[in-house]
Amino acid sequence: MINVILKYIAVSIFTLSLGTQISFAAQFDSQKYSFPSEAWRKRHKINYEEEMVKPYILPDPLTNPITGYTATNAFDWLENVRPALVKSFEDLYSPRPPRPFAMRFEILEKGEALNGKAERRQVRVFLRGDTDIETHFDILLYIPKSATKPVPSFVNMNFYGNHSVLDDPEIILSDCWSKIKSEEAKEAMRGKKADSNPIEHIVDNGFAYLTFYHSQVFPDTADKTINSQNVSRIFSDGVFPHKRAAISIWSWALSRVMDYIETNPQLDNGKVAVLGHSRQGKTALLTGALDTRFALVISNASGCMGAKISRRNYGENISSIMANFAYWFSDEMKNYIFAEDKMPVDQHQLLSLIAPRPVYVETCQEDYWSDPKGQLEALVAANRVYELFGAKDLPAMSNPKAPFCGATGYHMRAGKHKLALEDWKYFINFAKKHFCIE
Ligand code: GCU
Repeated sequence: MINVILKYIAVSIFTLSLGTQISFAAQFDSQKYSFPSEAWRKRHKINYEEEMVKPYILPDPLTNPITGYTATNAFDWLENVRPALVKSFEDLYSPRPPRPFAMRFEILEKGEALNGKAERRQVRVFLRGDTDIETHFDILLYIPKSATKPVPSFVNMNFYGNHSVLDDPEIILSDCWSKIKSEEAKEAMRGKKADSNPIEHIVDNGFAYLTFYHSQVFPDTADKTINSQNVSRIFSDGVFPHKRAAISIWSWALSRVMDYIETNPQLDNGKVAVLGHSRQGKTALLTGALDTRFALVISNASGCMGAKISRRNYGENISSIMANFAYWFSDEMKNYIFAEDKMPVDQHQLLSLIAPRPVYVETCQEDYWSDPKGQLEALVAANRVYELFGAKDLPAMSNPKAPFCGATGYHMRAGKHKLALEDWKYFINFAKKHFCIE
């Protein structure tokens, strides 16, 4: 009898892993090789073949990466493992600045929007550190007008300026560096990213939506003379020497948005989801890991140094990301070019830092660069920590496509690298479940 059971288990495991391989292998198409160029793939040893993925061992998320101590319960993990994981990720992304020494919020504009469904606010956040310099960035927010009590919200940075998220003539153009140079071209971006920011749909579902332009906080360019103009220059080097790492400074600004939310009684500061796509997804994960005021964290196609396992040599790797985007990270990352297995931590441990708060990982089926399978793997490997907190409804590798809406969440959308309305529908569903909203 025992033999029969064991045989059954062995067959199930085999079928399960075969099933997984089939679903992920089915993604093969010629598109895969259209990005990046062949020369780039060669130089950075980019692999797109599942069979060429080298075996690797993931660090145990229950184990302290510095001392090697393994926690046995949630309290033990919080006390004796979590701080060392935080330190290890700060080494990779660079530490975030301290809290501003002074901060004020000025309402630049306020009005009715979305045919009376929402109130729009444009709020300038002024920041001071220990120098004479004052910097700022602008939050754009839409709050449902029908609300009778403080509302939950989504915070999502944007890539092209606040005016790109909705075709709303009242949205002020950002007064900062932008990849788009001419004023006409900037103006032409008004509303052009509305499909990735379905604000009316979000508001109709009872959520507020808050955004800011990431380049107003830290210009998203490798040009040192420009990105040294980022908002963290309010601090002297004595107080904050790490002014050159974009992701940690974008993340710090997301925490300032949370500071603002805490001042606005229309918003429920216990129900704030931080969300981001791609580089902004990497930033959302770091933010959720470090700032526990965010009750829910969503990564959309965050890929390398987001939700993707770095040790899995598929898609973008550390060599490639450092060649293009070294300014997103600390200098320490140089040590891991072609040496991902030497990294003190891997990305499932970043996801585990969000526990027990819910985290959601989105992947796009044709987004080979971001490694959909490697992202699901990180989420599944973070289960160990969620389980420690008592979570039971957790995802498995055998379920790559079906939306999973448990203690953590996951879906793979058909199509390319993008934040789409379909993704938002799953995110809203997940947020409603965890925020107990009908
Ligand atoms: C590049 C980069 C990715 C990043 C993406 C984005 O493709 O290699 O790591 O996620 O840009 O932010 O759009």
